[in-house]
Amino acid sequence: AAVSSPTSKLLGFTALPTSTSDDFIVPQGYIAQPLISWGDPILKNAPAFDESGTQTSAAQAGQFGDNTDGMRFFPLSENRALLAVNNEYTNYLLLFAHQGKQLTADDVKKAQAAHGVSIFEVERKNDGHWHYLKESSYNRRITANTEMELTGAAAGHPLLKTNADPSGKKVLGTFNNCSNGETPWGTYLTCEENFNGYFAAPGAEMDQHQKRYGLKADKNKYQWHTFDSRFDMSQEPNEPHRHGWVVEIDPMDPTSTPKKRTALGRFKHENAALTLADNGHLVVYLGDDERGEHLYKFVSKNRYNPDNKAANRDLLEDGTLFAARFNADEGELKGAGEWLELTHGKNGLTAENGFADQASVLIYAREAATVVGATTMDRPEWVAVHPDNKTVFCTLTNNKNRGIQDNQPVTGPNPRAENKYGQIVRWEPDSADHTSRAFTWDLFLVAGNPSVHKDFYAGSANITDENMFNSPDGLGFDKAGRLWILTDGKYSNEGDFAGMGNNQMLCADPVSGEVRRFATGPIACEITGLTFSPDQRSMFVGVQHPGEKNAPSHFPAGGNSKPRSTIMVIQREDGGIIGA
Ligand code: FEO
Ligand code: CA
Ligand code: CA
Ligand code: CA
Repeated sequence: AAVSSPTSKLLGFTALPTSTSDDFIVPQGYIAQPLISWGDPILKNAPAFDESGTQTSAAQAGQFGDNTDGMRFFPLSENRALLAVNNEYTNYLLLFAHQGKQLTADDVKKAQAAHGVSIFEVERKNDGHWHYLKESSYNRRITANTEMELTGAAAGHPLLKTNADPSGKKVLGTFNNCSNGETPWGTYLTCEENFNGYFAAPGAEMDQHQKRYGLKADKNKYQWHTFDSRFDMSQEPNEPHRHGWVVEIDPMDPTSTPKKRTALGRFKHENAALTLADNGHLVVYLGDDERGEHLYKFVSKNRYNPDNKAANRDLLEDGTLFAARFNADEGELKGAGEWLELTHGKNGLTAENGFADQASVLIYAREAATVVGATTMDRPEWVAVHPDNKTVFCTLTNNKNRGIQDNQPVTGPNPRAENKYGQIVRWEPDSADHTSRAFTWDLFLVAGNPSVHKDFYAGSANITDENMFNSPDGLGFDKAGRLWILTDGKYSNEGDFAGMGNNQMLCADPVSGEVRRFATGPIACEITGLTFSPDQRSMFVGVQHPGEKNAPSHFPAGGNSKPRSTIMVIQREDGGIIGA
């Protein structure tokens, strides 16, 4: 069994050292096993994974997608559940035998099929471990070509109409699905992040909206536009407006149509952290993961009905979007803040300022946030609400532009120039009311390297030679209030990152501030995606892109095998609660 520490009642495991090995390592007394890897078949008749890189789009469309990311466990019974999992992107060096050098039309379809969401049944069998069920009728692949519905205030707007869809309400697919959320009525939320990277318009000039959303005419690593005109902005200038949303999926009904919820705004969505305010409104916290972009909050117009789950199905259809402003006390790493409303006709969001209507505010939410004076952040990644429903935490992963670009001053929750390491900001809504416009904030943790730096780049007092890491990204609480931190950082183990090893998962006590390393990943991976069984005795964690850029990983199969993104299941040898 895990050894208890005298210093924190919440954390009951022995901290791990860093690792540069090609293994997924967990503390003494724990076991970790692969559940599913990129290419494993999940639909009936789908072929087994073949690492040659010559399988077709049809094969990939029946297999688990690539680059496992955010996920959620939906129980069916004590020992059966559905996992809904994001497949963020794909790596052409691994996807194709030709490594992307001779793309065909079917290769583009295959890449599109490696993206999206995978839903599949898992069962805890007599051996006590979880296995996925290939033949389950719940299993589903959602890809960059699955038909979806655009809903909310922007649906049907001229900016969302294309040649293929004059209604502006029917869109194909979701891609670059980073992290996720779950609603109290049992649906899965998948969040579209770097959608810009899939569009091109050879030789064209980008306008101000396209520039703000990172759309580029000629720089495109996926090359989908060469075989699919939907991704050529010179032919379909509005197609990018149909991506960058939060998508709601009913995992229990494999025939259901996913819904893009435009009320939650369009930006590079990281995750969707939902909570219910005491007054019954649903509140969703949302990060926009880009250097100098913003943090958002959605408050539903209608109240949650605890007695009738079905009555809540369209709560994400209508509500008010806000962006955060953080004010800093002089010389302090704390202060007050406010939520600034992004509603047409208010706070300068008028036709004179370029916003014709509420749909334009939602489609160009980033530009609206600038108009109202939101704070530019160090890349907001995951947001997590403490189970006591009083405090909220958000990872700010890093930002090389801080202090360099005029709109990104060194102040408040973004206190270091050329921020290499990242930090975790925490806020408390006024009167513990998540619908309140006022909050107070502080920094829970400032990552750094105390073995290399003696100044503020050493990190906050709770960062030591033993637990240091960089670039916090994934973030989540378990039921007991342990804060799990997943990293997506530099793994060179040199220079500013000396002594940090591979990407990792840590566990923090939000009260004492203690941080302990819980798991380390294989070579060149990021650790991302986190969910638990309701009994808190099984933890599901994603190992994304081991061996990226031809790094020498053979995870998980070892030997000379091709590295594959993989979901790991962590359990205790004594069957106990994870982390306790
Ligand atoms: Fe896909 Fe911001 O990470
Ligand atoms: Ca992330
Ligand atoms: Ca990241
Ligand atoms: Ca990633």
